Amino acid sequence: MAGSSRLCVTNQKGGVGKTTVAINVAGALNRLGRDVLFVDLDPQGNATEGLGLLEAYDAEYPTLLDGFLEAGDVPIDDLIYAHAEMDVLASNIEMNAAEASLLQEVGGETRLASMLEEVDDDYDYVVVDCPPHLGMITDNALYAARNLVIPALAESTSKRSLELLFDYVSALERDHGIRIDTRALVVNRIENTNEAEAMLEWFGEALPDVPNYEVRKRVALQRAFAAGTSIFRTDERVDMCDIFLEIAETIDQHDTENEVPA
Ligand SMILES: Nc1ncnc2c1ncn2[C@@H]1O[C@H](COP(=O)(O)OP(=O)(O)OP(=O)(O)O)[C@@H](O)[C@H]1O
Ligand SMILES: [Mg+2]
Repeated sequence: MAGSSRLCVTNQKGGVGKTTVAINVAGALNRLGRDVLFVDLDPQGNATEGLGLLEAYDAEYPTLLDGFLEAGDVPIDDLIYAHAEMDVLASNIEMNAAEASLLQEVGGETRLASMLEEVDDDYDYVVVDCPPHLGMITDNALYAARNLVIPALAESTSKRSLELLFDYVSALERDHGIRIDTRALVVNRIENTNEAEAMLEWFGEALPDVPNYEVRKRVALQRAFAAGTSIFRTDERVDMCDIFLEIAETIDQHDTENEVPA
């Protein structure tokens, strides 16, 4: 592929499965033979630590925040770590200062996009995991990626969180004259309850144009996270592998068909 496609995995609601979905979509793209750069923008560093890169999270200069604030001066290669399935632009404890620091910077929301330009030809996909809040960090992810993957729980509180997210994305599109496409809604951690059933129906009706995927509650996903990989390295036969492969294939097929010749 010429240049990389970028996916921003976000929902400002906490604990809905952003990190789990991001790692497993990245793992599925890797399983399809694609080169993937995983970007952990969450100051909590769950993905960075989960992928076995605690040393990156605790590293001193240069850190991801230095990359953001001195875009151009810190080579992005110095911030990228190797993992069996993907390369990782790791988060760092200093990212806790990012919201405040980036607010002071002109064009603070465009920093990730500038950094990624350096490695645009090195990867087929960039998958960005976001923190559980809206602000400058998530703006960077949305601005750079222009493609949105939304994990959401099958609970009625998701109605409000999706409404807030779509309003926020529309405002960002207006402010910057950009278009952000919602590529997938991943209903996550589904259990056999009446509420889940009703919400699955609601998602389909509320977002008829967005490909909608159902990921069930599975210990295998927690096991893979604990092992520092996607489920494709730990449990190839697990039923949820098929769902993540379907997400990756649909995204990849669309991007390949719409590829602009180099
Ligand atoms: N489909 C699933 N089946 C079982 N457990 C899951 C599933 N999805 C996520 N989990 C578990 O739920 C918890 C929250 O998931 P995760 O960390 O991916 O959410 P998050 O949205 O990234 O959280 P945060 O908002 O803190 O970044 C984790 O313990 C994770 O292992
Ligand atoms: Mg997370």
